[in-house]
Amino acid sequence: MCADQIPQPQTTRRRAIGIFLGGGLLASLASFLYPVLRFLVPPPVVDLGGDEVIAAKIGDLKPNSGEIFRFGSRPGLLILQSDGAYRALSATCTHLGCTVQYRPDLREIWCPCHNGIYNLNGGNVSGPPPRPLDVFDVHLRGDEIVVSRKREA
Ligand code: FES
Repeated sequence: MCADQIPQPQTTRRRAIGIFLGGGLLASLASFLYPVLRFLVPPPVVDLGGDEVIAAKIGDLKPNSGEIFRFGSRPGLLILQSDGAYRALSATCTHLGCTVQYRPDLREIWCPCHNGIYNLNGGNVSGPPPRPLDVFDVHLRGDEIVVSRKREA
């Protein structure tokens, strides 16, 4: 057997170091690229499940305030405007799915994750959200505030 064919300890060590460095470089690239891709590509629209829910009772909300309620498996946002009108929207931000909240000082809907802002009709005002929020119907039934999906026309 020739000495050239026997693996030298120095060669195998160099190869192992190369594999570790290459793996580390790949892991670093993945850890940088994945959040960037998640930021740029929003998740698909998720079905809310359930058509109707009692979101609150009359008197639960003060004028110019909002409250999160559960609509199927997702959160909804019920808002009582200063003029006494109720509004209900999906509380799932269309950007990366954070839960939005009503900002009484702005009288708008705000996503704290990346400072996305929607108006009370769910429309995009500023920030990264790519689509408006889903808007729901609100009905009063006795002292209950009932929220349901908008019916297709
Ligand atoms: S998740 Fe990014 S703005 Fe809402």
